[in-house]
Amino acid sequence: MTTIADKIRQVAGKRKAIILAHNYQPPEIQALADMCGDSLELSRRASRTDAEVIVFCGVHFMAETASILSPEKTVLLPRMEAGCQMADMITAEALRIRLDTLPSMPVVTYVNSPAEVKALSTICCTSANVVQVAESLDADEMLMTPDRNLAMYAAARTGKKIHLWDGFCPTHERLKPKDVEAARRKHPDAVFMAHPECRPEILEIADVIASTSGMLRHAAQSDAREFIVGTETGLLYPLQKANPGKRFYPASEKMLCPNMKKISLEDVLNCLENMSNQVKVQENIRLPALEAVEKMVKLG
Ligand code: 13P
Ligand code: SF4
Repeated sequence: MTTIADKIRQVAGKRKAIILAHNYQPPEIQALADMCGDSLELSRRASRTDAEVIVFCGVHFMAETASILSPEKTVLLPRMEAGCQMADMITAEALRIRLDTLPSMPVVTYVNSPAEVKALSTICCTSANVVQVAESLDADEMLMTPDRNLAMYAAARTGKKIHLWDGFCPTHERLKPKDVEAARRKHPDAVFMAHPECRPEILEIADVIASTSGMLRHAAQSDAREFIVGTETGLLYPLQKANPGKRFYPASEKMLCPNMKKISLEDVLNCLENMSNQVKVQENIRLPALEAVEKMVKLG
């Protein structure tokens, strides 16, 4: 019997398409994808392939980043309404207004942001390299957007004066110290890993602070057998798959990003059959946004 996954692979082959899935996507989407990973890693790897079409199973800013890095490829987002609540907490217009009060201030922008905001920024960062990016700037003061938790994390580690943007990820913000205490009582030998999008009081009690790819690396290399995972619960699937002998527990079942769960296998098939839901960043935005992304990539 032909399954929907078989049909998707057939159409993807005909279209010369590559299917990418973020680490938070539902298991059936990650199982289908040609590549899984964090958003920047996926866009960078896809730009190096000779695929003509990129199907990005993730959220809108990720498809935009793929378009910024691969303007010659067609980028499809299987559900257009899969946005990112944190990226929606900033606009180019709002950033311009804030910069009027902070003249000639360098701007560091998290990749979880709209392309127009990247285009106005000095440099981009990810949760994995934010400290390195802040240190690379020849300035002791900067504005960091849109995630205030990531900015506070970088400020504490660099000693630089970082002006905050009042944005956050609702999924990570939901995790409270009492949730971690309860998880630790249930699993006393587990290592608690937290994503830097979590509140400062969570990062203070974490054993390990890492991005999603950093958590995957840490879990594989560590001698520990049990882990409490302080990020979106979708990461449990790749963690468990890569480490069948180890145990992973969510820090809280409430850490669920509704946008990351919108895409179904039917949506992937539909957009590939109809070449619908194309995401394309216009050149006047793409070129300055690319400059901010490339400056970060050059740091290694
Ligand atoms: P990373 O995969 O870069 O750690 O990002 C986390 C996230 O919230 C993506 O939406
Ligand atoms: Fe955005 Fe948070 Fe969802 Fe990631 S988990 S897509 S940062 S809302």
